[in-house]
Amino acid sequence: MSLEKYSLKLPKAVYSGKNSLENIQDILKSRGAAKVAAFTDKGIRKLGLFDLVEEELKKANIEYDIYDDFPVEPGYQEVQHVIDQFKGKGYDFVVACGGGSVLDTAKLASVLVTDEYGVKELLDDPKRAKKCLEILSIPTTAGTGAECTPNAIVGVPEKEVKIGIVNDNMMSDYVILDARLIENLPRAIAATTGVDAMCHCIECYTSNKANAFSDTFALRGFDIIMNNIEKACNDKDALTEKNNMQIAAFYGGVAITASGTTAVHALSYPLGGKYHIPHGTANAMLLISVMKFNAGDADFRRRLAEAWDTAYHGERRLETIDEKSAALISWMEEIVKNLNIPSDLKEFGVRAEDLEGLVASGLQQKRLLVNNMREVTAEDARRIYLEVI
Ligand SMILES: NC(=O)c1ccc[n+]([C@@H]2O[C@H](COP(=O)([O-])OP(=O)(O)OC[C@H]3O[C@@H](n4cnc5c(N)ncnc54)[C@H](O)[C@@H]3O)[C@@H](O)[C@H]2O)c1
Ligand SMILES: [Zn+2]
Repeated sequence: MSLEKYSLKLPKAVYSGKNSLENIQDILKSRGAAKVAAFTDKGIRKLGLFDLVEEELKKANIEYDIYDDFPVEPGYQEVQHVIDQFKGKGYDFVVACGGGSVLDTAKLASVLVTDEYGVKELLDDPKRAKKCLEILSIPTTAGTGAECTPNAIVGVPEKEVKIGIVNDNMMSDYVILDARLIENLPRAIAATTGVDAMCHCIECYTSNKANAFSDTFALRGFDIIMNNIEKACNDKDALTEKNNMQIAAFYGGVAITASGTTAVHALSYPLGGKYHIPHGTANAMLLISVMKFNAGDADFRRRLAEAWDTAYHGERRLETIDEKSAALISWMEEIVKNLNIPSDLKEFGVRAEDLEGLVASGLQQKRLLVNNMREVTAEDARRIYLEVI
């Protein structure tokens, strides 16, 4: 193992399993919370999922207000708009229940009680963020891992991109992974968000920033996802597999925090920023093309072969690194295909003449591209995008 510096940052406590929402009362009491700002979205409320959280808030006899008036994958002005309504109301704790969009908005709120800076200022200088309120994150997708990363991703409409604000003060203090929250996740959302978690694990394992801490979570998360994702998506009663996906998505988030994603995420940001393709869908569309491109690098193939050895539990016996890395890419490809994730950017209004704009924008994601084992040139990015246009 390398002697380079690396670190592991985690929430203070994580609760998992069926009915683990019951821990809300104890968490709030132990923190002396009296007035909670609860973030969720209208879709989750309509499905009655937020009711499960609200029951616990009521049992804890705590005053709370609900913030749900912001869109999926919000732009920074939309996040600021919610925060302007929430500021100055005397909250002492934040509870977030939703997918990555809700969790990221709430995480930003938890550092934006102050008037010193807003979301725009954090985009310019993420170091300014200071923790103002503790936060409990309860993900309803499995997923982004946003419940345990210090990242918040917002759209920047004027630049037609999405940008990640990263600051350790946005790490959630508490996390609850209750399987009831993803029990009825629609198949399409379960599939794309699940493949997003798969990307987190395999990208972090093959990242230039990979290290002993991230490897443990990335590999184990990848193993769980490869062996649970299809059943979790296809069988509505597969509660164990769904809970496994929640745990694996959490591991993916830990891996992101300790390491970093690579070219899949880098090239997918413009697809979200300009064409509003959902984050998981955009990653799933690019995953295989990027894996095939990266497989041109011998170290990358070696890492994929290790991932094959860990995750594959079937009868096939493969010998060489090349065989194993190729088999792993085919296996991922098969899963993405079986999950019926869209595979053509044209379905989202992207045209051939948009290619150069995508390439230019993708290459700007240097924060993530530096993590990619194989350098991505403009010509490489062009070829990768062309495979899905
Ligand atoms: N902070 C991070 O570390 C991090 C990492 C990856 C992605 N992200 C960001 O997270 C966002 C994407 O989050 P996401 O993929 O979780 O989806 P999302 O939060 O955008 O939600 C997508 C849709 O799914 C619905 N939904 C959520 N949970 C549901 C449930 N249990 N049942 C039915 N419907 C449900 C929502 O209402 C919404 O309509 C993007 O903005 C992405 O950039 C953040
Ligand atoms: Zn992601």
